[in-house]
Amino acid sequence: MKSYFFNLSQMLDFTSIKTPFYLYDLDLLEETVSLASKESSKYGFFIHYAVKANYNPVIFRNIKKFDLGVDCVSGNEVRKSLEHGFPSNGIVFAGVGKTNEEIVLALENDIFCLNCESLEELEVVAEVAERMKKPARVALRVNPSVDANTHRLITTGMDENKFGISLHHLQNALEYCKSSPNLEFIGLHFHIGSQITSLEPYRNLCNKVNHIWKKFDIQNYGGRLLNMGGGLGIDYNDPEKNRIPDFKSFFALFYNNLRVPPEVKVHFELGRSLVGQCGRLVTKVLYTKQGENKKFVITDAGMTELMRPVLYQAVHRIINISSQYGREIYDVAGPICETSDIFAKDTVLPFTSRGHLLQILSCGAYAESMTLNFNLRQKPDSIYISQGEIFSS
Ligand code: LLP
Repeated sequence: MKSYFFNLSQMLDFTSIKTPFYLYDLDLLEETVSLASKESSKYGFFIHYAVKANYNPVIFRNIKKFDLGVDCVSGNEVRKSLEHGFPSNGIVFAGVGKTNEEIVLALENDIFCLNCESLEELEVVAEVAERMKKPARVALRVNPSVDANTHRLITTGMDENKFGISLHHLQNALEYCKSSPNLEFIGLHFHIGSQITSLEPYRNLCNKVNHIWKKFDIQNYGGRLLNMGGGLGIDYNDPEKNRIPDFKSFFALFYNNLRVPPEVKVHFELGRSLVGQCGRLVTKVLYTKQGENKKFVITDAGMTELMRPVLYQAVHRIINISSQYGREIYDVAGPICETSDIFAKDTVLPFTSRGHLLQILSCGAYAESMTLNFNLRQKPDSIYISQGEIFSS
């Protein structure tokens, strides 16, 4: 196995590039997406890329090469996907709060389907469709009440979550679709959460889906699509070792556990697992200081460039690429005026001093796409590495 992460850190001179910046390994991206495509197509499954994970244009263009569909959660994500040449018939559009304008946009562009999340939304989609004289293809996003065993702020499929139609209202929603000439019901959509690191929740999801499909006689309502959402996690603790998620076991699990008729097409919406490991955040150490009883490293990147540690107490590995000498325990903090602006507490690094470059790993998903301009921060540049070449966009 080539130790690519190590080489990447060692071989390039980043000192002339303005920090902080996102650094993307396009070879790893390609390897990852290609493996996911290969494993899913073994079973005839179809992948939509979850645009929210990262809509950097270069990442987007590279993903486009693999003929995936896209999963959007806003009108602007739909627009951006179309601009990048993703065909409208591969676009799914979810979200609990679609505006009338967004629904119009979806229908005007004849996207594959709207994943509807409430009875009221169905009524509005039907009204808009009637006005536009354009029946809307819809899937019903169901809240299956399955625990994803992930951080509570990125769990979506439990009773208390705002997402999806509850099982109590599914029958009404199905009947509503059946009675509306402006809605074409095509199937069910599920998404139970993100950063799911065990396959067990997916096994439970499959069992639940099998039950729902049968109990509600989904086929009889015209159901021919099963969208299982995304959520497959990545290894934040040891990204060098586990650069690519285990897509083989992931897709095999669905193949082995879903019991729906063979003509039902199974779709997925993967975000993090496709792009998470290909990106890092490179940041310079501005200062170090000794607190009352701890040492701080202050970096020029902050929560505005990577929110995950603050929002979800997420752990990202940090490496010092300027020094390998010694060993010290630090809190690594950003420059933002928030106490919570900490990337890592009590983390072990080599002796670190002003001017050193740090890399925060596993920043390909939900880092660049979640930047803030709080404190009037400027959005960082992105740098790409592909086949030994380094370039910026
Ligand atoms: N499908 C739907 C309907 C979703 O809401 C999401 C993510 C995905 C697919 C893709 O999930 P993935 O495969 O990327 O896990 N900002 C959080 C993650 C929020 C995920 C939101 N929905 C984080 O940084 O961990």
